[in-house]
Amino acid sequence: MRTSFAPMEGITGYVFRNAHRAVYRGADRYFTPFLAPGASHVLSSREKNDILPENNRDVCLIPQILTNRAEDFLWLCRVLADYGYREVNLNLGCPSGTVTAKKKGAGFLLFRGELDRFLESVFEGIYSEELPVRVSVKTRIGMEDPGEFPDLLTIYNRYPLSELIIHPRIRNDYYEGFPRMEYFRTGLMESAAPVSYNGNLFSAADAKAVAKEWEKVRPGMEQSFMLGRGAVASPWIFEEICHESGKPCSAGDIRDRFIRFHDLLLEGYEEIMSGDRNVLFKMKELWFYLGCHFPGCEKEMKRIKKAQKLSDYRDAAARLMADSRFDADRFFAG
Ligand SMILES: Cc1cc2nc3c(=O)[nH]c(=O)nc-3n(C[C@H](O)[C@H](O)[C@H](O)COP(=O)(O)O)c2cc1C
Repeated sequence: MRTSFAPMEGITGYVFRNAHRAVYRGADRYFTPFLAPGASHVLSSREKNDILPENNRDVCLIPQILTNRAEDFLWLCRVLADYGYREVNLNLGCPSGTVTAKKKGAGFLLFRGELDRFLESVFEGIYSEELPVRVSVKTRIGMEDPGEFPDLLTIYNRYPLSELIIHPRIRNDYYEGFPRMEYFRTGLMESAAPVSYNGNLFSAADAKAVAKEWEKVRPGMEQSFMLGRGAVASPWIFEEICHESGKPCSAGDIRDRFIRFHDLLLEGYEEIMSGDRNVLFKMKELWFYLGCHFPGCEKEMKRIKKAQKLSDYRDAAARLMADSRFDADRFFAG
């Protein structure tokens, strides 16, 4: 079984990935939040820092690219290959209106002729320049209608993708409701490339249920799971998924490691960001996910949300985490 930490813009940058890797095991691969190359072919300093090898020493990292222009994709492939990356991922799932309006992310799925030509140019470029990178795709099952998926699979199957990561929702689902598993099954049956499943894996039991389904549809095929929100909320989840007997360590251990993870994140953001406000913004965003493990702690959570200074935040977070109400068995609920 293979496991991947999903790309999450604004959350799973290199500070987060390194903190996760320092404390937790089990995630075989991490994906960068999307890099969006423009026609001017420069990376922003945030994007560059996110992929610099010295910022990613201890993780297996796959950079993700969001574009609909083959020349921009190939430019970034060259840059990434020079940094030593051997695989890149194409984002065909981002549901944000500003992205889809530009025919990118999930918005590209509606323009299947253009998508086909894009992939053709990308693979032609990779072969003719002998670029040493493999290309995987992370896709939704459609923009407006899941009936788009069979046509999309036909296109994907024309190219030697290293992997097809399927998030079985259409764009209009955003991240709501339950993933449309019947379309994932279609992907499993029809994809020429190895498949990875992504969507609503919030507990080891969720992964086990998909694994069972997978085994029924494609017995013996290597299984691959990508987790996003569930892994931000329960960063130890990969250890549980990989561990046959379920829990990898005691509840006390889980809490101590959780505190260590939190503190590494805070230190990491303080190191690279100026001013309390930016660091606080990052940390508060995380609590949207982490908060599920602190039932009945609304008052303490409110103190975290209201903190305007890092000293107040530290105090509020330390009090919350020291609280015996930490419950590792609760899950993020979507
Ligand atoms: C805040 C946020 C940011 C995201 N950023 C990206 C991104 O940069 N690239 C991408 O392919 N998907 C992105 N996603 C989608 C996730 O990678 C993943 O597909 C989605 O959350 C469903 O998986 P999950 O249920 O395990 O979270 C993002 C999702 C969220 C909630």
